Amino acid sequence: MFRMLMALMLSLSFVTIAQAQEDAPAPDRSATGGAQTLEDILARQRGEEVDNSFRRSNIGDPDGAAGLANQLGTLGGASDPDLWRALRFGEAKITASNDGPAATTLIQDGGMRWLLFREGPLATYGGYLLGGTIVLLVLFFLIRGRIRIDGERTGRKIERFKAIERFGHWLLAGSFILLGITGLVSLFGRKVLIPAFGHEAFATVALLSKWVHNNVSWAFMVALIMIFVMWVIHNLPDRTDINWLLKGGGIFSKGHPPAKKFNAGQKLIFWSVIVLGTSISVSGLALLFPFEINLFAPTFAKLNNLGISAALGLGELPTALAPHEEMQLSQLWHAIVSFALMAIILAHIYIGSVGMEGAYDAMGTGQVEEQWAREHHSLWVDEVKAKETDTPQGATPAE
Ligand code: HEM
Repeated sequence: MFRMLMALMLSLSFVTIAQAQEDAPAPDRSATGGAQTLEDILARQRGEEVDNSFRRSNIGDPDGAAGLANQLGTLGGASDPDLWRALRFGEAKITASNDGPAATTLIQDGGMRWLLFREGPLATYGGYLLGGTIVLLVLFFLIRGRIRIDGERTGRKIERFKAIERFGHWLLAGSFILLGITGLVSLFGRKVLIPAFGHEAFATVALLSKWVHNNVSWAFMVALIMIFVMWVIHNLPDRTDINWLLKGGGIFSKGHPPAKKFNAGQKLIFWSVIVLGTSISVSGLALLFPFEINLFAPTFAKLNNLGISAALGLGELPTALAPHEEMQLSQLWHAIVSFALMAIILAHIYIGSVGMEGAYDAMGTGQVEEQWAREHHSLWVDEVKAKETDTPQGATPAE
């Protein structure tokens, strides 16, 4: 999580509005009457930070205009360049017939940075992350093989998950997989699908993907709440987790460390799904309802005030963001966190299916082989057995 935050912050530093370079002498802009010089333009093109404060406030002054009766008086006190600067820096007084939240933002300049980041590092490193995870899982399978049930099978079954729990899990899993695929179609469509299948075919796929992505998101959010409510109690950290983690879950050794209903590895999966899934949902809602939910300016203000951005060497993060920049950041955050969760879930799918003998039944029929349960969740089996002896089969509670 921390690494992701770092990565996001680094990406956001692209958006940082150029800070005043206090020590550097003020450039001589007398030749342009105070407007930007060729040197400013070249510096910006080289990707250097340019102090824009001289332009931000250089927007003319209607009150300074010559009176109407004077010669040239009707020209007013703001020139065209003044007006463009005012528009560019959000200082112009604009009214629009549509009063949507971003209707009066006529120019914002985060778009190109966002586009380049989305098409460049986001797609590249996101692709490496998913590809790398798959390669590691294949290597793991080749080295460790399938985790088998070590002991003799008993032939007895224990109920591991009720129907409602399995419904919640499969709603979450099905929606997440659909969201993952359609999200990747949106991100890699231009680079991969258009060259492979052409514009016509991609247009249909993209339209369908967008529809599925926007609508299936609700199923994911409902399922996320369901599994949180049903399983949070079993995922609170406790002492058994330390022992389980110290023994690496027994993955490479003989014997299995004792665990309750969920072992420490599963708890990590659960909390990753809850925390990252919630973050993806909130940033997704910000994209689904454009300009209505602004997440970043308030977060940056908090990071600045708490000194976190300074401690991370990021300086002051921008807190005056155009509505479109909020959307751009939401999109990047949504995609970065989704990549992280997809990588984690690939590992989960592996261990819940081919990676471990007997595991799939827990979510398939809900009934697991008792020997499997004893090996992987011994303390949980003891709890279940103790409950069974407390309430013998067929007994009805006393009135
Ligand atoms: C085809 C895909 C999937 C398979 C085969 C699968 C399989 C399983 C199995 C067998 C369990 C129960 C493990 C046990 O009995 O101890 C489980 C639990 C769980 N699954 Fe999945 N799953 C899949 C996809 C997903 C997805 C996409 C998500 C979330 C986005 C997810 C989230 C969870 C969570 C939070 C748990 C409980 C914690 C844990 O056991 O790790 N699963 N899954």
